[in-house]
Amino acid sequence: MDVALRPKHLNEMIGQRVVLDKLDIAISAAKGRGEPLEHILLDGPPGLGKTTLANVIAREMTGKVPRITSGPSLAKQADLMALLTNLEMGDVLFIDEIHRLPTVVEEFLYPAMEDFRVDYTIEGGLSGRVVNFSLRRFTLIGATTRAGMLSGAMRDRFGHRFHMEFYDTDDLTTILDRSASQLETPCEEGSLQTIAARSRGTPRVANRLLRRVRDFAQVRGDGTLTKRIVHEALEIQQVDALGLDELDRKFLQTLNKVYQGGPAGIEALAATMGEERDTLEDTVEPYLLQIGFVIRTRQGRQITKQACDHLGLPFAEKEPRTPDTDNPTLFE
Ligand SMILES: Nc1ncnc2c1ncn2[C@@H]1O[C@H](COP(=O)(O)OP(=O)(O)O)[C@@H](O)[C@H]1O
Ligand SMILES: [Mg+2]
Repeated sequence: MDVALRPKHLNEMIGQRVVLDKLDIAISAAKGRGEPLEHILLDGPPGLGKTTLANVIAREMTGKVPRITSGPSLAKQADLMALLTNLEMGDVLFIDEIHRLPTVVEEFLYPAMEDFRVDYTIEGGLSGRVVNFSLRRFTLIGATTRAGMLSGAMRDRFGHRFHMEFYDTDDLTTILDRSASQLETPCEEGSLQTIAARSRGTPRVANRLLRRVRDFAQVRGDGTLTKRIVHEALEIQQVDALGLDELDRKFLQTLNKVYQGGPAGIEALAATMGEERDTLEDTVEPYLLQIGFVIRTRQGRQITKQACDHLGLPFAEKEPRTPDTDNPTLFE
């Protein structure tokens, strides 16, 4: 289902104007010169279209799908070696979660990215033998939810670095409109806007909520999405007026009740909530930071008055803290 909803061409992608305009120029220029694109780094929270965009770029450049792998699945040099030597001229290699590449593999990738060659260590004998292989020119697309975890050396080897932003309600409505017609779901005026406004700025969330609302409309209505159906369905999904779900609320409530509004470290919050730290950092925090419900300080995460007002929680005024300057924005 998700595959069907994925845009296939650059002109079918909605929103992300800044990224798509730059990319459009880069693609046209590279094609005009008959050269592969320079390596591309895509960063941003989950569900904003990194994988979709990697597929679109490969299709535009080569007419083919990219070779797909991910950081955690490349445990050793040999895993990457097999992929690299099979690439044809101009092919696109997509490495998802590139911040999770093991260091040995990352260092092995540097000369491949820079000079299209690898120094491969053949095990055996007393000492390994290093053989130099040359590769065909390819384009690496790396995706990451944590640009801050990439080494400077890695970041510098990407010619293009694109930061994906959360989508506004209009763009999400357009995405939902397209999805609803692909799913052949009739919608009344305004029903999709309501879903869009509660999708945490994220197309994946929007498409997921659309399917849940569609189920509800089929069972409790005549299959048509009306504003009433949407409201009732989202209530069952426990998605509130701002799109916050149970996990978002649990995060804020824990911060407020257990840690008196913070500052609290992410490790401590994760332990108290019984959740993975990565889940909180990747999927919960970015949106809460975006809407100003949480701030990051050197001492940890702190809840804001806005968040307390929204949830009807008491807000305890705190001394202003030092903002967290260890995590500056990497992309201006
Ligand atoms: N710009 C966009 N226009 C239309 N649909 C999009 C767009 N970006 C993402 N989507 C939809 O959202 C879903 C999630 O996108 P995906 O590329 O998997 O995100 P990521 O890799 O960043 O986690 C896709 O299935 C796609 O249908
Ligand atoms: Mg992805």
